[in-house]
This record gives sequence, structure tokens and C-alpha cells, in this order.
Amino acid sequence: MAVLRAIDLHRTFYSAGEALRVLKGVTLALEPAQVAAVLGPSGSGKSTLLHLLAGLERPSSGEVYWLKQPVHALSQEMLAALRAKHLGLVFQQHYLLADLSVHDNVMLPGRISGQLDPERASSLLWQVGLQDRAHYLPNKLSGGERQRVAVARALYNRPALLLADEPTGSLDRHNARAVFQLLVTLARHEGSAVLLVTHDEGLVSDVDERYHLLDGQLVAA
Ligand SMILES: Nc1ncnc2c1ncn2[C@@H]1O[C@H](COP(=O)(O)OP(=O)(O)O)[C@@H](O)[C@H]1O
Ligand SMILES: [Mg+2]
Repeated sequence: MAVLRAIDLHRTFYSAGEALRVLKGVTLALEPAQVAAVLGPSGSGKSTLLHLLAGLERPSSGEVYWLKQPVHALSQEMLAALRAKHLGLVFQQHYLLADLSVHDNVMLPGRISGQLDPERASSLLWQVGLQDRAHYLPNKLSGGERQRVAVARALYNRPALLLADEPTGSLDRHNARAVFQLLVTLARHEGSAVLLVTHDEGLVSDVDERYHLLDGQLVAA
């Protein structure tokens, strides 16, 4: 069964009486543990697509499924519960909580799901090479280190699906490459499927599928 399915997604924004058709029929499926990248220039609709796939926004039409769950048809409460269980999210900004240690930030999804497992958090910090930063506050870390913590946090709940929107977009070239590689390697190790969107074609390696988002539709690259 596909971890993620999108069927004929459309998203149109209206402003000042004008319709902006950003997504014009996006269909895709992601199998368990598959890693896929969606490439497209700024403004092509990548974040819009990711928000629909994460159930953070509703499509104008079309359907999204996580495993068998019809995301487009569920209440916000159901979505939040399912998101906590099945999804990991990484954004361009790390969204770490400033008052919590690195270790507690990684464990944050467990507070929502009721599964606090300090050893799980420690193991992930080892895997992202930050075991000796566990008790730091986020503001003591470099940008690349913060994104590594965000990746560890996103995988804490062993999500079937990791969605990432320009996860290295705030980093310099060297760190962007390192964090990208780490995200893909760690997700593969954990068995999570990944869909990531980025404008940075040069960054994308070691993925199973690549698509371009062109004129509101996905084209296999
Ligand atoms: N809430 C919104 N209201 C109106 N227009 C939007 C909204 N969100 C995004 N857009 C527009 O949709 C287009 C795609 O945006 P976005 O999905 O953020 O692209 P990308 O992530 O590829 O840079 C842009 O032209 C953007 O201005
Ligand atoms: Mg974007």
C-alpha cells in the first residue's frame, strides 16, 4: 500500500478578483521507504503542494491519502492525531523550541503522542552526530546543527512518511549538502518514505524518484 497518494490535486488562489492556478492536477504515489524529490523554481508551487500533502491546507479539488486515510475528508482533530502518528515534517526554518534542550526538542513529538522515550531521542542524536550537544539550548548551535536536530525530531515517532520543504534552504552549500545527505540516509535507515521539495537541483542525489513541478503539474525527471 502506498504511504502517500495524491490524486488530481488542484489549488487555486484568489486575490483581487484574479485566480492564480498554482496546482493543475498533481497525481503521485509514494511507496514505503521510497525517497522522492520534487524540483521547481521559486514560485512554482512546491510549498503549496507540500502543505496539501501534509494536510495543513485543503486542495481546491482532488484527494490525498496517508496509507488508507483520506486526508482531504478528515476533521482537523483527526488530522492532527494522524499527523502526529504517521508524519514527520521538516521546513526551511527549524522551528525548535528555544527553551527546550536539544534532547527535549527531539522528544517533542513524544509529548503529543504520549510516547516519551529518552533513549530513542539519544539514539537519534547519535545518528545525526550531536550526542554531545544533547543538553545545549538551540541558540547555542550552528544553523546546520539546528537542522540536524529538526531532522532527528521529525523521525522520532518513526513516521511512515517524512515531508520536507526546502529543508536545507537556510544553509550554506557545504552544510546544505551534509544535511541533505543525512536526511536521506537517516530516513532510509529508519524506513521512512520521504518526499522533499527544493529549488536546488544541484543538491539532489541518492533519491529514487525525481519530479519537476512544471506549470502546476508533475513531470518525471
Ligand atoms: N495563500 C496564498 N494566497 C495567494 N497566493 C499564494 C498563496 N500561497 C502561495 N501563493 C502563490 O502561489 C505561488 C506558488 O507559491 P509557493 O507554493 O510558495 O511556491 P514555491 O514554494 O515553489 O516557491 C506563488 O505565486 C505564490 O505567490
Ligand atoms: Mg516554497
